[in-house]
Amino acid sequence: MALIAILPGDGIGPEVTAEARRVLEALDLPLAFESALVGGAAYHATGEPLPPETLELAHRADAILFGSVGDPSCDALERGLRPEQAILGLRKELTLFANLRPAKLFPGLEDASALRPEVARTIDLLIVRELNGDVYFGEKGMRTTAAGLRQGYDLMSYDEGEVARIAVAGFEAARRRGGRLCSVDKANVLETSQLWRDVVTEVAREYADVTLTHMYVDNAAMQLVRDPGQFDVIVTGNLFGDILSDQASMCVGSIGLLPSASLDDTGKGLYEPIHGSAPDIAGQGKANPCATILSAAMMLRHSLELPDAADRVEAAVARALVTHRTADLGGTCSTREMGDAVLGAL
Ligand code: NAD
Ligand code: IPM
Ligand code: MN
Repeated sequence: MALIAILPGDGIGPEVTAEARRVLEALDLPLAFESALVGGAAYHATGEPLPPETLELAHRADAILFGSVGDPSCDALERGLRPEQAILGLRKELTLFANLRPAKLFPGLEDASALRPEVARTIDLLIVRELNGDVYFGEKGMRTTAAGLRQGYDLMSYDEGEVARIAVAGFEAARRRGGRLCSVDKANVLETSQLWRDVVTEVAREYADVTLTHMYVDNAAMQLVRDPGQFDVIVTGNLFGDILSDQASMCVGSIGLLPSASLDDTGKGLYEPIHGSAPDIAGQGKANPCATILSAAMMLRHSLELPDAADRVEAAVARALVTHRTADLGGTCSTREMGDAVLGAL
């Protein structure tokens, strides 16, 4: 019996994780579920966004299904108490350094893409985003300059070990897919990126079967909308990967479609949609649950070694999307109706 921790979080998090849980339950697998508070919901109940009980459950579980965190009523709190610290804390505490964010056009969704249909149809890429370093986790703070001005700072840094392990994750993913890896950085300006480029190039010696290219992040943002079909696997840092993956989501129709897996080097993982808590639509039954359902499919594949079940869930989402769409994709389905459509297709 595998234990799945369910951390619904804030905003639309509970709505979308409920649908993903229904899909997992319908598969009739030996799975047990245990839920805990996280983010703003946990802060309001306990005074902490990541209470010790929640972290303990995350450690104990075989895999974690995460909704989203973020609550406008918490935006003025000191940073350590904000809901977002919960997801950052989980990623760091569990050493979930490799974040896989696949983007592929589902058949029939060409009209929902922000790109022309013939361009949208070419998209089938995977962003491998580093998740434990970069400006996210460097020294940060507020200080006053000599001229008396307030100054905020966040140190960007990577050491060669951190770059090497995410490079390996990128090469391994490219080897399983189309054999092409594009490393995205800003080596023309940043020392962090120069080290990144050097180390990725060194790791490439172990992967003669993978074709490595390098691209600056500004060009990558442009190429992603000009000719996204050129990409197989993109490996990049924490901040660039965050931004490029939201952009990739609109290339395939909606941010409500992109799942993710955050992995350590043992197969333990946290699975979450790439989107946030969407306060503008929370509580209205409007959220697209597909990204979270597809995250559950990634969980079946990467942590539970159930690739057939993962295939079944992904095929059911594809089939459901032919006839059912939530508002973000121009449809009228509620979150629950979209979940029902996926269950029906299963
Ligand atoms: P967001 O992703 O929550 O929302 C951006 C836009 O996309 C909104 O208009 C929203 O309605 C829409 N959207 C997002 N998910 C959707 C879905 N499943 N179906 C339909 N529409 C969807 O980003 P934001 O507004 O910048 O951030 C809101 C909060 O979420 C912030 O507090 C932020 O810090 C947090 N956040 C959390 C995570 C996470 O938990 N991993 C990720 C991103 C943002
Ligand atoms: C994401 C989110 C998070 C990130 C925030 C909420 C900390 O945007 O998961 O993409 O920046 O990683
Ligand atoms: Mn993001």
